[in-house]
Parts: sequence; C-alpha cells; structure tokens
Amino acid sequence: MKILNFGSCNIDYVYSMDHIVAVGETQMTYKMEIFPGGKGLNQSIAAARAGVETYHAGCVGADGGMLLDILKESGVNVSCLQKVDAKNGHAIIQVSSQGENAIFLHAGSNNMVTKELIDSVLSQFDAGDILLLQNEINNVDYIIEKAYERKLCIILNPSPLNDEIDKMDFGKLSYLILNEVEATAISGCEAPEESLTYFKKQYPGLRVMLTLGSRGCIYMDEENEIYQPAYRVTAVDTTAAGDTFTGYFAAGLVMGKPYAEVLKIASAASAISVTREGAAPSIPLWDEVMEKMPNLQENTSGGKRAQQKKQIEDYIEQNIGTATPEELARMLGYSVVHTGKLVKEITGTTFSKYLQNKRCSMAAKLLVEKQMPVEEIIRTVGYENESFFRRIFKEKYGKNPLEYRKQRG
Ligand code: RIB
Repeated sequence: MKILNFGSCNIDYVYSMDHIVAVGETQMTYKMEIFPGGKGLNQSIAAARAGVETYHAGCVGADGGMLLDILKESGVNVSCLQKVDAKNGHAIIQVSSQGENAIFLHAGSNNMVTKELIDSVLSQFDAGDILLLQNEINNVDYIIEKAYERKLCIILNPSPLNDEIDKMDFGKLSYLILNEVEATAISGCEAPEESLTYFKKQYPGLRVMLTLGSRGCIYMDEENEIYQPAYRVTAVDTTAAGDTFTGYFAAGLVMGKPYAEVLKIASAASAISVTREGAAPSIPLWDEVMEKMPNLQENTSGGKRAQQKKQIEDYIEQNIGTATPEELARMLGYSVVHTGKLVKEITGTTFSKYLQNKRCSMAAKLLVEKQMPVEEIIRTVGYENESFFRRIFKEKYGKNPLEYRKQRG
C-alpha cells in the first residue's frame, strides 16, 4: 500500500511581525523568508518523513525548482508531478509574535491540473492505495470520481474551504480530516464536536478526523470515537501543523497502526512542527517524533469540553451493559438534569440514544473480533430484549448481526 497525494506546491513568502494586520492598517515586518510549502507538498513531505512510500502529483511552475528539490530530498516520488509553463502558486503568510498565522494564496500552477493528467496518474494506482487530497488544486471533484471508480481509499482534507467543496461527493470518501472552522461551516452545527453526529448521519461509513487545535483531536468511525489531547509546546509558527498531522495520519494508516496510536504519533509530529519556523522545513522525521514523544506533555487544561466528552465515553465504555444517567451524574459531580443537558450538548443526542449507539458499536466490534454467539453479545452490551436490539442494529448498519459478522469477519 502506498500514498498518492494529488495536491498543491507553493512558494511561501513568510513575514514575521508583531500581529496580523487589521483592515486599513500598515505594519513593518521584522523579517521576510521564503520557504517551500503548500498543503499538498507539506502533507507529502510529512508522510514521506514518517517513512511511507509517497507519490506527489500535481503541477509545478517554471520557478518551482526549490519545491522539487525538497520533495526529492524528503524521499517523495515526483514522477507524477508535471512541470508547466506558468508561474508557481505562492502564499503570502503573516506570522505574529504569538506564532499565529494568516495566509492568502495565488493558485498559479496549482490550477493547471488537467483531466488527462489525472487519468494518467490514477491509472498507476490500485485498489487499497491511499489517495490524499486537499482543496488547493483544480478538478478535485473529478479526482474523487475517478479514484472512487478505481477503489482507492480517499482521504480529503477540505482546506482551504471555498465553494469548490460543494462539488465534491463526500459519500465517495473513506476519511475526512478537518479542523473546527471547516467542521462547523460544512455541517452548520454550532459546536465542532456536534458535527461528528452530523457526518455520521449524513455519510454513514465515513471516518472523520476532527482536529481541535490546542484542544487536541477526535477520531470517529462506526465503531470508535477516540479523543487525543494536543501536546503542550511553545508555538513559534503554526503553519503546516495541520498538514504535518494529516501526512502522519495517512502514514499511520499505511503502517496499519491502531487509531489511538496513530492519533498520538500524528499529534506529536504536529506539535514538534510548530516549534520551528516555516512550513515544509518544520516537519519532523519519524525518528525525531519517536525520540521526543515520550517527553511531550498532553495539554489537559485547554479542552474542558473534550475532557468531559472523554469522561462520558470512558464511563459508557467501561459500563456498557449497566450505564445509567444517574451514575454518570454522580461520577461527573452534576445533577441528573445538568448531566442530561451536557450529554446532549457534547454528543448531539440524548443519553439513551448515545448509549444505544455505543452498544451497537460495541456489539459490531465483538461480532467481528470474537467468536461469541450473537445472543451472548446482545446480553453483554446490555440488552434483554433481543428483537429490539436486532432492530436498532439493522437501523444503524443496514444488516442484521449475523450478516454483519459474515461481511466483516
Ligand atoms: O497549511 C499551510 C500551507 O497553506 C502553507 O504552506 C501555504 O502554502 C498554504 O497553502
């Protein structure tokens, strides 16, 4: 299994300054540097530096020599990258003294991806290979259509967000990796965490990776919902933090690591990247991540909501057959009414529906991983009434437990 990343390559003009310029303001900068960047290139470099076979496809302009160089130096295969007779895409990036950034882009060569190039590149990849996409090149909707036909495992990072996203068929994606702003904008939900429920309903089977900045990240699929706090570091430049996370996440999938471990590794790589300047140059190698990860401290203060989510999840998981709102309320130290409201706010649904959903997920996991009779599984996850369980299981997975076991086992 290998990674094909069809994405942008940018020249980043990075201006260090006191704060991000406000409307109508003029400000002197401390320094200006030029770095290789682009969401696509950064993600390819992250995956390759994690040690996974990575191909980068797209277009580089006549002035894109430094981009080709860093891709090659990082071990990315550039045989699918086309040189075009145009100016390369570039980004103007302001970095404040607090390490925050603001970016605007000129697409240039990144907008010259033809359908012929897409067809010819995709013909070199097969079912099971991972296709990584962002929203900084043209024709991404076409790439999704064609890659889906070829049964590639498609990961979309819908960044930067614009109207092009509306053309993309999320039903054809395997994974969606997005941040808080993207999650609320796409789902229309107020709280980013609530968008997870929206995606689950809207696109059953889609695996969602929601990044929450300094609050960490949440991964969700039919069987799992995993929270990983961010690691605490002093930010120098947050540019490419998300790209480093995405590249390492994709690499972790290729390596076949369990999701919880993938989240830890991707979060650590991303944390290390923000301690250095620049986009691509800040992305760490696998060995550095492994060496520094044990000494990184998780940021457990920033995300009260995420922590409460984890407490609720842990409680339900550990008491799947017996969980009650009263006991959860006692554990959290709140009244039953307040706990009910909190569960609704955090999970987007009521305690009983959330528990029901978790019981189905646990049953699905047991069906695949254990040879237990279905009746025993139903009792283990807390149901006496078998026909009720069979009905809700079918509602969630579209098939009865035995059919599910046969298909997934
Ligand atoms: O995600 C960071 C990247 O966004 C920068 O490297 C810049 O090129 C923009 O594409």
